[in-house]
Amino acid sequence: MKHITCIEDLRQLHKRRVPKAFFDYADRGSYTEDTLRANSEDLQQIKFRQRILVDVSKRTLATTILGEPSAMPLILAPVGLLGMQHGDGEIYACRAAQAAGIPFTQSTMSICSIEDIAAAVDKPFWFQLYVMKDRGFIKSLIERAIAAKCSALVLTVDLQVIGQRHQDIKNGMTVPPEWSLSKLIDFATKPAWVSGVLQGKRRTFGNIAGHVKGTEDLTKLSEWTASQFDTSLSWKDIDWIRSIWPGKLILKGILDVEDAELAAKTGAQAIVVSNHGGRQLDGAPSSIEVLPEIVDEVGSKLEIMFDGGIRTGMDIMRALALGAKSCMIGRAYAYGLGAGGQEGVAKHSTSWARSSPPRWACAASTPSPRSTTRCWRFEAIAIPPTGVVPAKAGTHNHSRARFEHGCGPNSSQQSSSVVMGPCFRTSACTHLLESSQGLG
Ligand code: GLV
Repeated sequence: MKHITCIEDLRQLHKRRVPKAFFDYADRGSYTEDTLRANSEDLQQIKFRQRILVDVSKRTLATTILGEPSAMPLILAPVGLLGMQHGDGEIYACRAAQAAGIPFTQSTMSICSIEDIAAAVDKPFWFQLYVMKDRGFIKSLIERAIAAKCSALVLTVDLQVIGQRHQDIKNGMTVPPEWSLSKLIDFATKPAWVSGVLQGKRRTFGNIAGHVKGTEDLTKLSEWTASQFDTSLSWKDIDWIRSIWPGKLILKGILDVEDAELAAKTGAQAIVVSNHGGRQLDGAPSSIEVLPEIVDEVGSKLEIMFDGGIRTGMDIMRALALGAKSCMIGRAYAYGLGAGGQEGVAKHSTSWARSSPPRWACAASTPSPRSTTRCWRFEAIAIPPTGVVPAKAGTHNHSRARFEHGCGPNSSQQSSSVVMGPCFRTSACTHLLESSQGLG
């Protein structure tokens, strides 16, 4: 592909270069995939108010995430099996994130182990935890993350029972792949992938294999994992985790305002508003739909991160404008990894959000009371040169207008925020505004 201009281009390349079972594992969602679709469709519904002739000569995407400087409000989310999208995929994704100056989160269900990554990168990364029945193992896993100097623990709270991904069943997805004629034919057409995976450090779940008795056999390992998630996990277990993990704690998978309130009482520093990328409870709302009310309720007590459906820098702006402090991407960078390894993540998957001189700016002022024909669902994003300013309460009401009561001439009058926005050099932007210069 000569010019890669958007995440969809990376997705197409990933699809061509990686065996179907692993591409589909990353790409697809659970059951009817309603929630998967809603994540991006609801983001697209949110329109920007375009204002002009505001001085936008000083812009930056730099911010802080959990008190640490970050080049932009973006985090690479935990994604299982990255090492099956590209040999040593976790290491390459982590290196790409660190080169871009943003956090990388390693999944429990990684192919590389915590120690493999720690030995291969210069800076601390985040570790994502799934809690399994064998609490002795979970304790030792947290201790390994401490020993590896991981700088935050991301506890996933929405996957004690795994959502059924129909496509994984149809594909006979196993780790590592079980041999069949169709798989052999598939692999034969992907020699670069085969050689990368063969050269990689591991072909099984590196955090688990060899650490738990009976997990030496690869295929049995995936069965073992499926049967091991602790379905009794509850709020009280967070105290137990906090008694082992002394550092920053993030709860990932909050989608309801009452859960957000409970999360605020746990001592966690942050939550990720997320429906697991539409891979868990199908029929649950999109993440963007619930974001504003969660921000209103607990935004002053917890740092709010957002994930679900982000494919452009514009989507990041949408989430930040509705009160998220930063966003996670999962599929967007997994596509980059499958399409082109570390470069695919660094050069493409994150470049649309990088602080290369942004060309586009959203500027907004008090919504016009004369705007009777349109409801501007939110005004703009607030990223002055000093960092991200969470959207103001008035701004959230605009999004509510969308989800609850439509719009009208008075729907946006209470906000007086004057903001100038950044600009994410997005694929869409690049395409529209810089058509002569693709991301590739
Ligand atoms: C794991 O997190 C998955 O969604 O497969």
